[in-house]
Amino acid sequence: MKKESGATFPVWINHVQLPDTKPLKNNVSCDVCVVGGGIAGLTTAYLLAKEGKKVVLLESKEIGGGESSRTTAHLSNALDEQFYNLTKLFGKDGARLACQSHAQAIDKIEAIAKDESIDCDFKRVDGYLVATNPEEEEKLTQELEALQQIGWTDVVLRKHCPVETLSSLPCLHYPNQGRFHVMKYLTGLATAFIKHGGSIYTGTHVRKFDTGTVNTAITTDGHTVTANELVVATNTPVNDLFAIHTKQAPYRTYAIGVQVPKDSVPDALYWDLKDPYHYVRLQKNTTGDERFDLLIVGGEDHKTGQHEHPILCLQELEKWTRIKFPMAEEVLYRWSGQVYEPVDGLAYIGRNPGDTENVYIATGDSGHGMTHGTIAGILITDLIMDRPNPWAKLYDPGRVNLKSAGEFLKENLNVAAQMKDYLTSGEVDDPQQVMPGTGRIMRKGATKVAVYCDQDGVRHQCSAVCPHMGCVVSWNSVESSWDCPCHGSRFDPFGKVVTGPAHTNLGPAKS
Ligand SMILES: Cc1cc2nc3c(=O)[nH]c(=O)nc-3n(C[C@H](O)[C@H](O)[C@H](O)COP(=O)(O)OP(=O)(O)OC[C@H]3O[C@@H](n4cnc5c(N)ncnc54)[C@H](O)[C@@H]3O)c2cc1C
Ligand code: FES
Repeated sequence: MKKESGATFPVWINHVQLPDTKPLKNNVSCDVCVVGGGIAGLTTAYLLAKEGKKVVLLESKEIGGGESSRTTAHLSNALDEQFYNLTKLFGKDGARLACQSHAQAIDKIEAIAKDESIDCDFKRVDGYLVATNPEEEEKLTQELEALQQIGWTDVVLRKHCPVETLSSLPCLHYPNQGRFHVMKYLTGLATAFIKHGGSIYTGTHVRKFDTGTVNTAITTDGHTVTANELVVATNTPVNDLFAIHTKQAPYRTYAIGVQVPKDSVPDALYWDLKDPYHYVRLQKNTTGDERFDLLIVGGEDHKTGQHEHPILCLQELEKWTRIKFPMAEEVLYRWSGQVYEPVDGLAYIGRNPGDTENVYIATGDSGHGMTHGTIAGILITDLIMDRPNPWAKLYDPGRVNLKSAGEFLKENLNVAAQMKDYLTSGEVDDPQQVMPGTGRIMRKGATKVAVYCDQDGVRHQCSAVCPHMGCVVSWNSVESSWDCPCHGSRFDPFGKVVTGPAHTNLGPAKS
């Protein structure tokens, strides 16, 4: 997997040999076309191929080349949204189903790894939710009560967390969570999918969908895949312009991989209750030096495109890590990625609202995309095989949850507020003020231009207006990309689309 210039580099990428796949060069037809080669798309494709369906998977980049390779790969049904809140939003039965579905997703990953002999470092570990002040201690008690009400009775309140330096206050102890090496898993899953008769085309970007009795995905090269059923698992749907994007918000989150002396931190998952929260875990045998383990620490989330100096987030994360884990030594990896936060805390998985019955989406992953992506595989397979699934209503993308109206309003007012960028002046007045390796927004008459200066000092200009719904992009200095603050579309320094919902590039700069 290639490292983009200036972009950060997740720990997983060094360690795998992806299956040999090529771009689509002709027109094909199949039972199911799956778009997106992350955990959601690949799990769905694999499970459908096992059911005997002829499945074709299309992926713009490489297997796992989207957010899946940027994960920290906690496998957990201790949901970030907290069951205290989920019970209010979905009732006890809904919260219980959510809890069970994520637990079953972990079981599914374990079963697939076993059935297909995928050596992906899967391990069952415990999880700890730690309080660091009395107010948070109170929240732990509330959460424990909610868990008992939905029947998750083996979670216990412990007086102390196993890592003394993390907190001296109580924590909730969740048994039977998990962790794995995501890229080893996805490589094995892709190989197993091909073994079960599936076809994968990488480097194949879908630019248009024609849906109806039969669906067609049309690639940028003009080739087509015609299929009875279409699954769009592109992290955020690129086949939907509006509806879903009002119900979820893009957040950038940061991670570092830091050496710690072997066995100095117990092998478990750790989360705190800050807003944004920190998430921590161990990866064994990854540093290339047997004396060390790798501690993977994530956090410092903010709305995409709405932090002036994203590099500070990585610095803050390292600072926090050194305070809470004083045994931390050299930082070997730094990276960031994007998650979509649904307004009511649960993913949108199922039939695409307002589309024909045979079009499915999986999105709204939040910090639980590994399990949400696996739930997508199980649930969409059941829908396509016309089997009942107890989770279908809970994850229905068309659901309207009036109890989350406050969050819906807050996120959409935030999007509306981004329109102020049309009125403000630019960050620079002249392209020459843009330093090599950076990007800045410049006003040009009534519009705004994104100016990137490459390492050789050549200035490149394109429109700063996002082709999705017209917000003004902003420069992400950590990833060297233009990020849209409204619904999370991202573009490379020259304006080429990297992440939807936009599916076209930034336009030319108007003179
Ligand atoms: C730093 C970080 C830490 C995280 N930690 C955790 C964690 O500990 N546990 C957890 O469960 N989750 C975690 N997550 C979330 C999780 O990684 C994601 O939710 C999950 O990987 C999303 O999977 P996906 O298959 O939906 O999307 P992706 O992996 O992004 O896959 C979508 C694919 O679609 C492709 N695509 C897009 N548009 C097109 C198109 N037009 N044509 C063809 N292909 C297209 C993309 O190239 C991409 O490969 C984390 C995320 C980040 C960023
Ligand atoms: S992503 Fe919606 S306006 Fe840019």
